[in-house]
Order: sequence, then C-alpha cells, then structure tokens
Amino acid sequence: MATTSRWCSRDCGPRCPLDPLPPLGPGLVVGMSLLEVEGLHASAGTREIVRGVDLRVGGGEVHVVMGPNGSGKSTLAHALMGRPGTTVTSGSIRIDGTELVGLPAWRRARAGLFLALQQPIEVPGVLVEAALAEALADAGAAEVPRRLRDEAAAIGFDERFLRRPLNVDLSGGERKRNEVVQLGVLRPKFAVLDEIDSGLDVDAVRAVAQRIELATSEWGLGVVAVTHFHRLLRELRADRVSVLIEGRIVASGGPELAEELERTGYRAYGVDEGAA
Ligand SMILES: Nc1ncnc2c1ncn2[C@@H]1O[C@H](COP(=O)(O)OP(=O)(O)O)[C@@H](O)[C@H]1O
Ligand SMILES: [Mg+2]
Repeated sequence: MATTSRWCSRDCGPRCPLDPLPPLGPGLVVGMSLLEVEGLHASAGTREIVRGVDLRVGGGEVHVVMGPNGSGKSTLAHALMGRPGTTVTSGSIRIDGTELVGLPAWRRARAGLFLALQQPIEVPGVLVEAALAEALADAGAAEVPRRLRDEAAAIGFDERFLRRPLNVDLSGGERKRNEVVQLGVLRPKFAVLDEIDSGLDVDAVRAVAQRIELATSEWGLGVVAVTHFHRLLRELRADRVSVLIEGRIVASGGPELAEELERTGYRAYGVDEGAA
C-alpha cells in the first residue's frame, strides 16, 4: 500500500523533529481541506467488514453515515483512524493528498484526523491535559489549560472531570462529552464521530451538536458522523447522508434521507431489523 514519503521513516513518535506540527487553528481556511476515501476495504479479526466505501468530505462539511447494527460503521471509523486490530486490505484514505493508509494513528492525527470512539476507553494514569499538551507540543501546548476550560464550559462538561485520568470512572455520556472537549482543544481538520450522541440526554445532545456545528465554521472542521438518530441533526446540519449496509454505501442523499430512515428504518434496503 502506498505511503507518503513526507514522513520520517523512523517511528519515533509525536515529538519527531522531522514532522513539524501544523500550526494550531484557527489558521485553516474554511472549505480548503479534503478528506477522500476511495474503494476502502477493511477487515476486523478474520472477516472483511468494510467492502468498498467511497467518501468525499470537504472542510466545513458534515457527512452523516447511518446504518443498522453490525453494518460496519465502527469498523469504517477504526479503519479511517488506523485503530490496531482493523486492517485496510485495499483502497485509499487521503487528507489534502496525504495518504493515511499504512500510517500509525498518531501520524493520521497529525495529518488532521480525529476519532471519537463509540466506546471511549479509560486510560489510567494519563490526565487529559497531559495527553493534549503532548499532542500539541511545539504548537500551542501552553494554551491547553485555558482551552480545556472553555471547551468544557461550552458543552456543560464538569471541570472536575478534567483532573481525572482520561475517562476513568466517567459514565458513558461523560466520556462522550470528554471526546468533544478534546476535539475542541485539538482542532483537527476532520473528525470521525462514532455515535457521539449515544448515552447523552436531550440537552447534552443539543450542546454537543451545537459545538460541532460551530466548529465547522470556526475552523472549517469536516465531519463524518455515525449516528442512529435524527435528533443530533437538528443542530448539526448534515450536508450529505449515506446509508451503510453490510459494509457498502447503498444510498446517499441530503438531510431528508436521515428523517426518512428514522421513520421507516432500513426495511427498504432489505434489512430485517426484527432479526438484528
Ligand atoms: N475484531 C472483530 N473481530 C471479528 N468481527 C468483528 C470485529 N469487530 C467487529 N466485528 C464484526 O463486524 C461487524 C460490524 O461491526 P461494527 O463495525 O461494530 O458495526 P456497527 O458499528 O455498524 O454496529 C459485526 O458483525 C461485528 O460483530
Ligand atoms: Mg458501531
């Protein structure tokens, strides 16, 4: 699989002197970035789960992916970020022309990609502030404490949780908000949000959706949002909605497609949800 030669060939980690970080936002120009996914196939365990996915998301755009349980949405998200255990078997993932397939997750992050996991993991012993300061070393680490407070306030995330090791002893909904706080501090070009609304009450969904929508204009964040629920899309304006079934995008449309799916489910696509 092709990898870019722009990167240092040693895997020396985020402090690699040959990989200068891009300046911290808001230096990006809205609409100038492009995430391109072409012919992506990926397997988890021994099975091929993602079976030929194409996506094109510009800076400032929101692309929603919906689909029944088990259709491969999370595996697609993991393949994009390079989560260990998920293997891309063919296809391409590019941000502004930089090929991400074959790169470790931290390099994809440096290229501008962010993933909010469906089930964020606990990282005992690592404070969120320390993790973000490390990620932003040489590019605004001194700003991290203030930004953390601002981002937490924006979505009603209790500041106390910022002093805990990452996600340790947080509820499912608190972890989701913690992901959004980190997104706001890191200001990536593109965010893949895997069911960011699950486990959140109505008010929290609204706050999170508003924060992400603001980010699309504030620094031109492009979003790939996996969700089951149209309620996220009341505040987060979808530019495009795609239906993923058995690892393939079988339909795409505008925001009206999300409303239709919420009403009718996936029966029109041959899915027997009673059996799922
Ligand atoms: N590590 C794995 N090993 C084997 N099968 C997996 C693994 N991860 C996911 N799967 C399977 O892949 C399919 C898609 O899972 P997933 O991507 O989590 O779907 P979704 O997020 O759409 O609910 C499911 O059948 C799931 O059991
Ligand atoms: Mg999932």
